[in-house]
Amino acid sequence: MSAQQLTEAESLLAAGRVEDAIRLTLDALAKGDADGRGLVILAECLLQRPDIALTDQQGRAVDALMLLLDGPAIDARSAPKQRFTWQQAMARASSSLPRISQEMLLDALGASLVPPEEYLQILGVVSLRDPDWARLMHQAEQCAADGSAHPDCTDEDLDAAARQQAWLTYWRLRPNANLAIELVLTAIRRRLLEHAVVGRPLATAWQEMAASLAVQAHLNEFVWREDETETTWLATISGRAADTDGWLVAAMYRDAAEAQQPLPVDLSSRGGAIADLIDFAVDAPRQRRQMVDELPTIGTSADTITSLVRDFYETTPYPRWRHGYDISFATPYANWLAGRFPGIAEPDFARVPRLDLLVAGCGTGHALINPLQYHGARITAVDLSRSSLAYARQMVEGCGRHDVDFHHGDLRRISTLGRQFDVVECTGVVHHMADPWEGVAALVEVLRPGGHLLLSIYSRHFRDLLQPAMRIAHAAADGRATPREQVQAARAAVLAGRRTIPHADLVMTMQDFFLTSDCRDLLLHPVEHPMTVHEMVTGAARFGLQPLGLFLANPFWRLRAEQHRQAAGLAPGLTAWAAFEADQPAAFDNMINLLFAKTG
Ligand SMILES: C[S@@+](CC[C@H](N)C(=O)[O-])C[C@H]1O[C@@H](n2cnc3c(N)ncnc32)[C@H](O)[C@@H]1O
Repeated sequence: MSAQQLTEAESLLAAGRVEDAIRLTLDALAKGDADGRGLVILAECLLQRPDIALTDQQGRAVDALMLLLDGPAIDARSAPKQRFTWQQAMARASSSLPRISQEMLLDALGASLVPPEEYLQILGVVSLRDPDWARLMHQAEQCAADGSAHPDCTDEDLDAAARQQAWLTYWRLRPNANLAIELVLTAIRRRLLEHAVVGRPLATAWQEMAASLAVQAHLNEFVWREDETETTWLATISGRAADTDGWLVAAMYRDAAEAQQPLPVDLSSRGGAIADLIDFAVDAPRQRRQMVDELPTIGTSADTITSLVRDFYETTPYPRWRHGYDISFATPYANWLAGRFPGIAEPDFARVPRLDLLVAGCGTGHALINPLQYHGARITAVDLSRSSLAYARQMVEGCGRHDVDFHHGDLRRISTLGRQFDVVECTGVVHHMADPWEGVAALVEVLRPGGHLLLSIYSRHFRDLLQPAMRIAHAAADGRATPREQVQAARAAVLAGRRTIPHADLVMTMQDFFLTSDCRDLLLHPVEHPMTVHEMVTGAARFGLQPLGLFLANPFWRLRAEQHRQAAGLAPGLTAWAAFEADQPAAFDNMINLLFAKTG
């Protein structure tokens, strides 16, 4: 009986008999591991003893990483601690086990069992086994450290990069968030352009690589720095008709949907990365443009701030994101709650077969990924920006869901829908309103008594850390015509001042820094009202909202928060969170996520 074996394995692990615990766990795993418990025990064993060579009961060698990759995805919502243990074990196992190959990683990325970024560390380790790639990365890391431009890229480097199939796949799924990698990608891009300019044909593997980089460039909306020579070279290839290489290379620099050159016929019949590029950069934007006018509206307000914010998100919808989420696994809302807020009392509605849920300010739909996985939830999503909504609808439908009820308009007019909701989620929205509490009041109005409001608002302490970089960014962006130019100028100024601008290093490691729309949202927003935990709680109390708990996304910071609370001798609760917030603002990763219940 595997449950019994796992209990025994846990006792062995607690007693320090790690090898025995592993043997027993592997045996139990072979019989199935529906809830992922065995996988977590194995992960804990590997964390304690990464040196152990695993063998099963028959003495056969077992590839621990493959086991971890093969296992059922541990639900991050209902079991975040276990998920963290598992991730750590994956990272450890990747460096201690030499047998992981590009092919295994490609399989894992293709299976979409877990979000691709969870393979990042493994990807890094595996790719560095290629000495040519390792040398290029090493040069780029030095450039990133001393603030210089990207390294030179040779044809041997192009070959080394083209061998990194797992990385190339990753860059079509997720935005890069690493400065050294950004420099490598810009170096590769420049070298490919150089070839296209002189008409030297690109090998098929290089064409595929250009397509992967072009997907990444469209994802980040051409945030990478381009030098004057590149601009001149681009102009020389832009007029060439039916130039396959020219089209592919130009797509790494300019929006393919707006390209002067028509799509070369031979590209439209290609598969792999090239088909993916055409889908993402040409077909998807065209479909979104058609969707924009089809959305029903609840109306907007004409005041200056609302118009300013609406125009901001119409031009640069937030966040830019792509595939790699498996939302087929549904979990009851109650489980999700218990995973994030341990010990929380389960509300009456938590297990109802039809949970009415509103996502207010859904943006481009990334905020819908969790709700889409609440079992039986009927989701309504509202946003002020039509282009964001079109992106959201396209992404959600791409995940196979056609049942989200999208509405355009100002969330202050949400009551005009004539609906009531059990749960309202509103992340990163009301701090961009003229009066955040006016937004909260409108949401409370449509919340059933006892219903939950998950509210995420900029952390005042965290945003204070970013202020010096934001001031430099605003000054640099001032007078630039397009959002892309503004963001490029802002990024260049922050990178140039990295040694002197306080907390520039924090900014440069945030994912948002690496995409045009997201960086504009991070550093150049015209309206924001950050708050402290205390301000959120006292403000919300005026609307009959009782705080139930605070959620920190990063497990490392959750652990630190608990240590901080115990050291300060504070009871669990908001006073402890407020003290931690003041002491460790970086923990809040931009926002305070508080869950409230509507009393009465
Ligand atoms: C920073 S984005 C956050 C998007 C999404 N909630 C997320 O977390 O990914 C802010 C979003 O709020 C929307 N928004 C701002 N004010 C709004 C309002 N008054 N009514 C509806 N949506 C609003 C914007 O259009 C934008 O899409």
